[in-house]
Amino acid sequence: MGEGAEGARHVAIIMDGNGRWAKARHLPRAIGHQRGVEAVRKLVRSLKDTSIECLTLYAFSSENWKRPEDEVGDLMNLMRKFVKSDLPEFISNDVKLHILGDWRGLAPDIVEMLEDALERTSNGSRTLAVALNYGSQQEIARAASAAAREGDITPDAIARHLDTAALPPLDLLIRTSGEVRLSNFLLWQCAYAEMMFVDTLWPDFTPAHLAEALEQFAGRERRYGGR
Ligand code: FPP
Repeated sequence: MGEGAEGARHVAIIMDGNGRWAKARHLPRAIGHQRGVEAVRKLVRSLKDTSIECLTLYAFSSENWKRPEDEVGDLMNLMRKFVKSDLPEFISNDVKLHILGDWRGLAPDIVEMLEDALERTSNGSRTLAVALNYGSQQEIARAASAAAREGDITPDAIARHLDTAALPPLDLLIRTSGEVRLSNFLLWQCAYAEMMFVDTLWPDFTPAHLAEALEQFAGRERRYGGR
C-alpha cells in the first residue's frame, strides 16, 4: 500500500539562479551570491517552524572550480563571512552544522573555521548540511571503495559510507531557477525523494516558498516502489 506522506524531515536544495537574478538588475554576479546568502539565512531561521530536521544546501560543487577565479574567490569569502557572522545564531537556535563533500580540500583557514563550527554546533537538534566541494559521483565512488575494504559492496554498505550517513533519508529535493537537472547532487539519496523544480531564482526564494513546497510534499503519496 502507498504511504501517505507526512511532514518532510530532510529537504535538499539546489540553490540556482543567483547570476541571472543579478543580471536582470544589471548588478555584478557577486551581489547575486550575496543576496543568495541572505535567502539562506532567512530559510535557516524559519526551520524551527517546519517539519524539517535537516536542510541540505548545495553551496559549492566540485565542478564550480571551473568558474572564473574571482567568482570562486567571492563564493569562498561569502562562506567565510556567513559562518563567522551566523555561528552564534546557529548555536542559540539549536542548529547543528554538517558538511558534505571534499571540504578538507578547501583553503586551510576555511577548513579550520568549519572544524570549529562543527564542534561548537554539535549539540544542535536541527541540521544545516552544506555541500562544499561536493560531487555525488565522487561521494558514491568513495563510499563504494570504503565498503569494498570492509567486505561486500551492497547498497546498505555504500549508504553507510556516504557523507549523508548520519542524516535522515532524503524526502524532498528542490531546485530553483527553472533548470531541471541534478547536476551531480545527491544522486544516490534521490532514489526515493520527491522532486520539485521551481522557477523562482534563488535570491527570491523565501520561507513562504519553502512552506508551500512542504505543503505540496504532504499531499504527495509516496510508494517506494510498492503500490
Ligand atoms: C547558483 O547560482 C549558485 C551557486 C553556484 C552558489 C550558491 C551559493 C550561495 C547561495 C552562497 C553561498 C552559500 C552559503 C551557504 C553561504 P548561479 O551563479 O549558477 O546562477 P546562474 O545560473 O543564474 O548564473
